[in-house]
Amino acid sequence: MHFLTVLYTFLALGGISSAASTPQRRAASGLLFNPPGFAPLPSPTTHRGPQPLVAGGTPSLNTSNIQGDILGQASNANALGDPAPIENNWEPVFVDTSSLHGVFLIGANDNTTINAALNQITTALGDSITELYSLQAQARPGAEQGHEHFGFLDGISQPGVEGFTTNPVNGQIVVPAGVILVGEDGDNAGRPAWAKDGSFLAFRQLQQLVPEFNKFLLDNAVFVTGVNGIEEGSELLGARMMGRWKSGTPVELSPLHDNLTIAGDPNLINNFNFTLAGDNSLCPFAAHIRKTNPRSDLSNTAVDPHRIIRGGTPYGPEVTADEAASNVTSIQRGLAFVAYQSNIAQGFQFLQQTWANNPNFLGHPNFPLPGFDPIIGANHGQERFTQGLDPANQTRNITLVQDFIVSRGGEYFFSPSLSAIINTIAA
Ligand SMILES: *[C@@H]1O[C@H](CO)[C@@H](O)[C@H](O)[C@H]1NC(C)=O
Ligand SMILES: *[C@@H]1O[C@H](CO)[C@@H](O)[C@H](O)[C@H]1NC(C)=O
Ligand SMILES: *[C@@H]1O[C@H](CO)[C@@H](O)[C@H](O)[C@H]1NC(C)=O
Ligand SMILES: *[C@@H]1O[C@H](CO)[C@@H](O)[C@H](O)[C@H]1NC(C)=O
Ligand SMILES: *[C@@H]1O[C@H](CO)[C@@H](O)[C@H](O)[C@H]1NC(C)=O
Ligand SMILES: *[C@@H]1O[C@H](CO)[C@@H](O)[C@H](O)[C@H]1NC(C)=O
Ligand SMILES: *[C@@H]1O[C@H](CO)[C@@H](O)[C@H](O)[C@H]1NC(C)=O
Repeated sequence: MHFLTVLYTFLALGGISSAASTPQRRAASGLLFNPPGFAPLPSPTTHRGPQPLVAGGTPSLNTSNIQGDILGQASNANALGDPAPIENNWEPVFVDTSSLHGVFLIGANDNTTINAALNQITTALGDSITELYSLQAQARPGAEQGHEHFGFLDGISQPGVEGFTTNPVNGQIVVPAGVILVGEDGDNAGRPAWAKDGSFLAFRQLQQLVPEFNKFLLDNAVFVTGVNGIEEGSELLGARMMGRWKSGTPVELSPLHDNLTIAGDPNLINNFNFTLAGDNSLCPFAAHIRKTNPRSDLSNTAVDPHRIIRGGTPYGPEVTADEAASNVTSIQRGLAFVAYQSNIAQGFQFLQQTWANNPNFLGHPNFPLPGFDPIIGANHGQERFTQGLDPANQTRNITLVQDFIVSRGGEYFFSPSLSAIINTIAA
């Protein structure tokens, strides 16, 4: 059985990730998995009946021992905090994934290269595949390149992978390879040999309501000695919600104003723990980067298993003048979020459900109820409170009555290694 004849419906994700002049292209694929593995997938000729995906045997990822939900993201939506019913917000392709079998991610620095790669895929696979959905993502223009639509530099803190990351930058924690890659040290899930060095891929289409977010920051600007005027106060609020200034500089190292020296130095921007103050004065306990990576607030053994490698790219146009003036989004934009890990329940799902959405985390004896992650924390569309955002009153709650990130759905895939594709899947 040839892999290529089985995978007959797919999702295409294209992204312009860099404006560098050297043409580069990276393409990755992901297969939708369903217990007990990839079976049953419909046959390409009859479109019904199970077909083994892997040559010479029953396809299996031994998913019985992937903890937590393995039935797909739609069945996981409630735990992720998405509002119900998901039909209201999710792209239909993610609501019913019965005919979705895989995904191709194509990254390049121009549309011509992306279109050529997509063309190569569709030509090679012919009518054995049908494109169900595609999302064109694109790095933001000019100085905003690398920043997501709210304006914050993205993808700064990525774990190093033991045995693969040769020169970690200062502050970069190197995790056991099995946290990210299947079958490596630290992954004890007992998956079949062919799956080694693959990774589970969590995709989320996260709409961002940028004018609404900006209005919230202006309306709730926070002030403290040395921070003056509505612009500075709203920048400070945004920085404390994220835990970083838009430049990427952590508020832990530069609490009241941005510091471009830190932002510009890869050995400074990520080299910190949240230990300088045992309170919210530098970085709030609820700040997005502290909730999702508490660093030395917890032990390495408590944090490492939940690290993920992210690769999100913005989609949709820049905010228009009309949207900015009215404070209302009229064109969809957001983040095509991609995360890799050896275990989705321990990675993406855990971070969203157990840390970002949990008001008790990261509790401190003096601040036991920090509230929701004000950026990605989700409460089924209900209002969310966050404590510690106001540096002038660390116990004050600020309530977010609306979500500024709206989940448009997503799915979980398994991304096989190149050798698995060549030697097993396409053999
Ligand atoms: C690439 O194509 C997309 C979709 O057609 C379009 O929105 C975008 O502006 C194009 N980008 C460039 C840099 O041409
Ligand atoms: C599945 O994983 C378990 C360990 O979690 C292992 O005992 C079992 O042998 C594995 N089964 C297969 C078919 O690999
Ligand atoms: C910015 O950070 C650098 C590096 O830590 C430091 O030397 C400098 O004093 C900081 N600048 C300000 C204005 O705080
Ligand atoms: C942060 O804490 C970890 C674990 O205690 C330690 O290994 C690391 O050196 C600390 N980093 C900084 C910048 O202090
Ligand atoms: C947009 O929000 C800002 C901040 O609250 C406000 O000053 C402005 O009047 C609002 N614009 C409109 C059209 O409502
Ligand atoms: C913050 O809000 C939560 C939820 O409404 C509430 O339980 C908590 O008591 C509030 N904390 C303070 C200090 O007002
Ligand atoms: C700080 O906030 C808490 C909770 O909202 C409130 O009870 C208290 O009065 C505030 N303190 C000051 C000094 O404003």
